[in-house]
Amino acid sequence: MLYILDTANLQQIKRAFDLYPMSGVTTNPTIISKENRNFLDILKGIREIIGEDKMLHVQAVSLKAEDIVKEAEYLKDTIGGNIYIKVPVIPEGIKAMKILKKKGIKITATAVFTAQQALMAAIAGAEFVAPYVNRIDNITGNGVGVVAQIVELFEIHQIDAKVLAASFKNVQQVHEVILAGAHSVTVNAEIMDGLLKHPLTDWSVDQFVVDWEGVYGKGKYTCDVK
Ligand code: G3P
Repeated sequence: MLYILDTANLQQIKRAFDLYPMSGVTTNPTIISKENRNFLDILKGIREIIGEDKMLHVQAVSLKAEDIVKEAEYLKDTIGGNIYIKVPVIPEGIKAMKILKKKGIKITATAVFTAQQALMAAIAGAEFVAPYVNRIDNITGNGVGVVAQIVELFEIHQIDAKVLAASFKNVQQVHEVILAGAHSVTVNAEIMDGLLKHPLTDWSVDQFVVDWEGVYGKGKYTCDVK
């Protein structure tokens, strides 16, 4: 199971990659536009922080297959490293996926709302498919259910593509898609922190410090006490 950070904010990326076992970063045009500065500077900044080996998922914004392919080649050459081009599951997107697959460019199928969209994208050559869990829930669908169906379809048909569950409002949704077999999740910085948060953990840690310092002194660590 892979944790991926869904942001283009460099401070958040730096902090999460310092603390947590992160595998990569996902962006989309909305996430990028929130930073409101030069697009390439943002992506090069992310690459510098995460290094060449971690995944960076960047979305093409054209809606025609040939243009998507052009963007993908440009992004691959300009950003470099372990890059995945996000392509939406529209007909021209599927066409672009077939071409990109032949060119050896890695693809993440995005804006996935149904298991059939995910299946077609995987057959067209996507390595990852990204179902939008909370957006599905918001249209009175079952986001976790769609993830579970995709996992099942990939298993039944022995398809290598992985589920990159995306669009979350809370930790419980993340927990449920992981239980359903999602191979990876992309979450914002707040949810990433939330996965670890528990008041009793904080209480226990505070109590350990009080008890330890009561006997061995304030600011003394195990290596200081002979
Ligand atoms: O990675 C896709 C994700 O960014 C969409 O999330 O919260 O805008 O539905 P959201």
